[in-house]
Formats: sequence, structure tokens, C-alpha cells
Amino acid sequence: MNYRHAFHAGNFADVVKHALLARILAYMIAKPAPLRFVDTHAGLGVYDLSGDEASRTGEWRGGIGRLAAAAVPADLGEILAPYLAAVGPAGPDGSWRTYPGSPAVAQWLLRPEDRLTLCELHPEDVETLRANMGRDRRVRVLAGDGYGALNAALPPPERRGLVLIDPPFEKPGEFDALQAALVRAYRKWPTGTYMAWYPLKDRAAVGRFVNGVAVAGLRRILQIHLLVGDPDGGPLAGSGLVVINPPFTLKAEAEALLPWLAATLGRPGEPTEWTARWLAGE
Ligand SMILES: C[S@@+](CC[C@H](N)C(=O)[O-])C[C@H]1O[C@@H](n2cnc3c(N)ncnc32)[C@H](O)[C@@H]1O
Repeated sequence: MNYRHAFHAGNFADVVKHALLARILAYMIAKPAPLRFVDTHAGLGVYDLSGDEASRTGEWRGGIGRLAAAAVPADLGEILAPYLAAVGPAGPDGSWRTYPGSPAVAQWLLRPEDRLTLCELHPEDVETLRANMGRDRRVRVLAGDGYGALNAALPPPERRGLVLIDPPFEKPGEFDALQAALVRAYRKWPTGTYMAWYPLKDRAAVGRFVNGVAVAGLRRILQIHLLVGDPDGGPLAGSGLVVINPPFTLKAEAEALLPWLAATLGRPGEPTEWTARWLAGE
């Protein structure tokens, strides 16, 4: 287990993932019934962008750093508002001290009646996550394998909510594990909303994964991705999401947001690409 998200926090992939996560949660909290957020691979919850790991890669500068420096067009203000509220303002010199991971984005947006179940395998990171979530009675932090925890957590008592599956993709077979987890979870709880993240690096592997999900009998599956540079080049350039049972507004919101994100986060001289398409409809 070598992956540490602290090196990557706030990068372009986090921006795409967290902006859409915030959009989904903002939509869900507009309805009064309580909901459950399950984060199977939760990470630290909050990241120190002035810390050693984030400073060493500087990846956040190509993500939240660029986004915050750009003028958000008026028609995207509402779409980005929940994410930018969770991130908070930059310092006076344009620097950032902390960046919220998915648990903190959800913690910020959710209401007193909602609940968060957060799972993390790395023993040190679990303790940091617990500390970062503070004394919040809505939050339960579980130590262990997120796929196993997901199976035990479904269906949640609230009967509505969002599951985020955001694995590190450091082991071979992660796409297969992700696909199996989605199919198993959907069978237990077909009305839940699911958001699964994947790296857009190996197009053949991504193709097998999305085809596998599309033919598994699941309905209402949206595929969203953003490529900010050459996928075959050096650092990760593509961030992908499969969203099952998304809010009905999400596809149009992604179609509005992604071209601007591509222009804002795109790497100079490298190709960009985005998509928001149904893999399976109603
Ligand atoms: C990509 S990071 C998560 C980032 C987080 N979801 C966010 O958006 O802020 C993946 C995390 O999964 C953890 N992890 C690795 N294998 C795991 C497993 N089997 N179950 C739960 N967590 C795992 C890693 O330690 C790492 O913190």
C-alpha cells in the first residue's frame, strides 16, 4: 500500500471529482429526507497543501490553483458554487493551506440529519481522517477494506444517498474489483446513487471496464471524463467517473462545465478531451 493521496490532493483529477461530487450532494440535499454518504476509499479527509508531500509534486497548482485563479463564467457560477464553498477562499497571496478531500466536501455540504460512513485501509491515514473529521456525530470512520465495508453498509437505513468509490489503482485488477463492487452494491441497493472514479490512462482497460458495467444489467449509467493532456505521456492526464442513478440535471451540468475545465486545466500544447454520455439509460 504505497499510494498516498497527499501527493495528489487538489490536482485536476480531484477538481473534476470533487466539483461533481459537490453538485450531486447539493442536488440531493434539496430534498428533505435524510441521506447517507458512503466513501469506501476516504483518504485523509483534509490535506495540507503547504506540507511536504503536496509541495514536492505541486500537482495542486495545475488543479485547484488554476481553477481559483480563473474567472468563473457567470453561467457556471451556480454549478461550481457548492465545490468552491467547500474549498474555501485562497490566502491573500493566492496560496492554499488546506484542501478538502471527499469526506470534507461531504461533511461541509451535508445537513445535521444526514450521515457519513467513511472507510480507509491505511492504518495511519484512518487516524488522521478521524482527527480531521473532528467530533462530528454524523460521521463514522471505519478502518479496513472499503469494498467489504460497502457490502456491509448497503442498503443504508436512510434508503437514499451516495456511494463514492475512489480506489488508488495501484494494484493490477482494480478495474475488475471496482466493476464487481458496483454490480454487487447495485443488486443490494438499486436506487442508490454511485460515483466511481478511474484514471484515464489505459484506454483498453477503461473500455473493458465501462463495457462490463454497461452490460451488467445496471440502469442509468453516466460516463464522464476529462483529459487535460497526453494520456500516453508522463503524469496522469485523464480523470474518469461512472455515475449510476445521477441527478437528472448532472449530464447537462457536466456538459456545461467540462469544456471550461478543459480550457482552464489543459496542459499547454497538449490535447484535451471531455465526454458526458449515457452508457445505459432508463
Ligand atoms: C484516491 S485516494 C482517496 C481520495 C478521497 N476519496 C478524496 O477524494 O479525497 C484512495 C485511498 O484509498 C486508500 N485505500 C487503498 N486500498 C484501500 C482499500 N482496499 N479499502 C479502503 N481504502 C483503501 C488509500 O490509502 C487512499 O487513502
